[in-house]
Amino acid sequence: LDIQAFKTDLIQWFKEVHRNLPWRHDPTPYHVWVSEIMLQQTKVDTVIPYYHRFMEKFPTPEALAKADEQDVLKVWEGLGYYSRARNLQTAVREVVEEYNGKVPDNPKELGKLKGVGPYTKGAILSIAFQEPIPAVDGNVMRVISRILRIEEDIAKAKTRKIFEGIITEIISQHDPSSFNQGLMELGALVCKPKNPVCHECPLQVHCQAYKHDLQQTLPIKSTS
Ligand code: ADE
Repeated sequence: LDIQAFKTDLIQWFKEVHRNLPWRHDPTPYHVWVSEIMLQQTKVDTVIPYYHRFMEKFPTPEALAKADEQDVLKVWEGLGYYSRARNLQTAVREVVEEYNGKVPDNPKELGKLKGVGPYTKGAILSIAFQEPIPAVDGNVMRVISRILRIEEDIAKAKTRKIFEGIITEIISQHDPSSFNQGLMELGALVCKPKNPVCHECPLQVHCQAYKHDLQQTLPIKSTS
């Protein structure tokens, strides 16, 4: 496996075909943060109008910090999982109070903020700050398990750390944002859970699952 070619093929493909999504126009830490929280349990197409309305109403961390919780929940109405909105406002208030409105650029402080787990932390650091930190969700585990033929059970909680370790070693140091977003985009558009579209895949030549006809077998995901 040629890791260098894998990285450059992924990043080049992402730059060519990425979707024009509102939070990609100006990927500030605040924009990335809000979008990643909205995207956690919700599809991209659903999130887009909510993201626009949210940024119209709360364009900055300061605006969100001083808003009434009820007004935040009203903009969130229909997205569900309302603790996401409450935690986001709590954490943004802390950023305004403790960090002068600047989202921390390091994993330690970011990870202490309410609702900011390992995935969101990695997404903010890589996409907004270009720090080479993995952002591992189910889609990324699926893509990486196929390319590298990783046969770990992605349903197990401790498996995410295994993928974080692998990605930490192979992530692009030059463009961690495009590398991580490329994995997300590939999982959404090509390397889908069922019937992945391997003939459209920019990484087919690197893919161990494709080589061994295991793309319908990987990832391994136990059910209880
Ligand atoms: N899903 C979660 N985060 C995403 C992102 N930054 N781009 C596309 N899809 C995503």
